[in-house]
Amino acid sequence: MTLRIFADHETLSLQAANEILAAAKTNPRAVLCLAAGDTPTRAYALLAEMARKERIDFSRCSFIGLDEWVGISPQNEGSCHFYLHENLFGPMGIHSSQMHLFDSLAKDLGKECERMDAVIREKGGIDLMLVGVGMNGHIGFNEPGVGLHHYAHVVDLDSTTRSVGQKYFRQSTKLGKGITLGLKHFLESRKAILLASGSRKAEVIRAALEGPIAEEMPASAIRRHPYGIAMLDEAAAGLLHPATRL
Ligand code: F6R
Repeated sequence: MTLRIFADHETLSLQAANEILAAAKTNPRAVLCLAAGDTPTRAYALLAEMARKERIDFSRCSFIGLDEWVGISPQNEGSCHFYLHENLFGPMGIHSSQMHLFDSLAKDLGKECERMDAVIREKGGIDLMLVGVGMNGHIGFNEPGVGLHHYAHVVDLDSTTRSVGQKYFRQSTKLGKGITLGLKHFLESRKAILLASGSRKAEVIRAALEGPIAEEMPASAIRRHPYGIAMLDEAAAGLLHPATRL
């Protein structure tokens, strides 16, 4: 794993956008898995601008959804579907045939997980997986305690995720389960980026990068990834030991 620390959220977002752009430049058929959430929103806006200016063609790339709240419809603005359409697919002009997102309203969620695993397998695996980190250290909806051996799976969301997740919804929403790619997908991706911004993430970043590499801290899995990059702004890196920053 490599660690890259940037002055502020804007610089971090620019570099994250550059990484996504580079993936598509290197491989016009890149398979990209890009998280929802507040952290990457600015990166996606910059990405859309840069792709337009540099005329980078994303039309043959595939976009894999990282996760979704179970039982929340794609029309709900708190859903990952809605977020990705609003912040990424719309601005980038991505065609629906390029999008592969979880149907969290599916009757059989186990089959839905198998379907997503098959999509990823058939496409030859994920080239770039860009994830955020939850206040409890989750990656996607891989909550603390979830093992490294899972591909797509359904999880019981922990209390932190259920309460922090309210920020995405207009009104108080019952969040019970999530459907998510697994840490096995994360570790098998050709490149993984863990993005964190802001001082409220500083404690969890310290635990992920300096604490034990353990299931209790899913974000620590980035340290197992041979091509993993932790990209932080100074605020998120604020509690790291000087030696970690070297
Ligand atoms: C979203 C996702 C979540 C978020 C994480 C951080 O698709 O998978 O794991 O990345 O909860 O969320 P923000 O960026 O809102 O702090």
